[in-house]
Amino acid sequence: MKVELTGRVALVTGAAAGIGRSIALALAQNGARIAVNDVNDGKRTCDEIREAGGEARFYQTDVSEVDAVNTMVATVEREIGPIDILVNNAGVNIGKNRVPTYQFPDEEWHRIIRVDLDGVFYCSRAVSASMVKRKRGAIINIGSAFGVVPARLQCAFTAAKAGVLNFTKSLALEVGPYGVRVNGIAPGSILTEGTRILFYNPESKQKAESLISHIPLGRPGETEDIAAAAVYLASDDAKYVTGHVLVVDGGWTAGFARDW
Ligand SMILES: NC(=O)c1ccc[n+]([C@@H]2O[C@H](COP(=O)([O-])OP(=O)(O)OC[C@H]3O[C@@H](n4cnc5c(N)ncnc54)[C@H](O)[C@@H]3O)[C@@H](O)[C@H]2O)c1
Repeated sequence: MKVELTGRVALVTGAAAGIGRSIALALAQNGARIAVNDVNDGKRTCDEIREAGGEARFYQTDVSEVDAVNTMVATVEREIGPIDILVNNAGVNIGKNRVPTYQFPDEEWHRIIRVDLDGVFYCSRAVSASMVKRKRGAIINIGSAFGVVPARLQCAFTAAKAGVLNFTKSLALEVGPYGVRVNGIAPGSILTEGTRILFYNPESKQKAESLISHIPLGRPGETEDIAAAAVYLASDDAKYVTGHVLVVDGGWTAGFARDW
């Protein structure tokens, strides 16, 4: 997808890997200058952007730490410029030890809510303050299909992602009068370094077939599918789109993919 983002400054959280990395690369390919955030090393993403002729700087910050987020946003604005595009992408989930809510550990609940929900709030608050003053900007929150239709055994993730998507709409109502747009993306099952093993490990073949049987398009998505949606929502082509959640899930949440 080709849009015009030349000169715009974009902060992408959790951009060292996976969906965030693809979003950062795609925004850079369209001319944006990228602040790459991650709690882990994001040098690889910055190198890839620069090798392709783009501009990027790395900001190693945990989005669940409010003071660190405020410092990061102030530093990005001083070093690169006022932020035009914020993509709240950083996220975590429970991993393999999935248990029902009545056994869900406190520390896992708080860890997931802190990163997936508090982090979105902290970054959005810090960035939207200056967007409102400048009367421009686009915020894109990466939720999940499970924020639209919940899944079992992931109570913190489904609660956090539903929160992110409703927060998206609430913030859109507040900042719309200042020309700031806020939208969400709800990815379905997307192939990343972390999830690839779920689909292509012979040991989990049965699980992969079961997952795929729920997806009308018959396959998991690619990180580039989410990046294309983010590029559109960041661009002026989406200038009348705000408070919207774009579901990118191969049809998973459209309804039952099996006959009854
Ligand atoms: N992959 C999927 O199938 C899928 C589906 C639905 C939603 N999502 C959402 O998309 C987003 C990206 O997921 P992904 O699959 O690319 O995950 P990923 O694990 O591949 O990448 C997430 C990145 O976020 C970073 N991160 C984690 N905690 C952080 C923190 N506290 N501060 C800053 N960075 C942090 C990680 O270091 C990592 O680089 C997440 O919000 C996730 O919930 C993914």
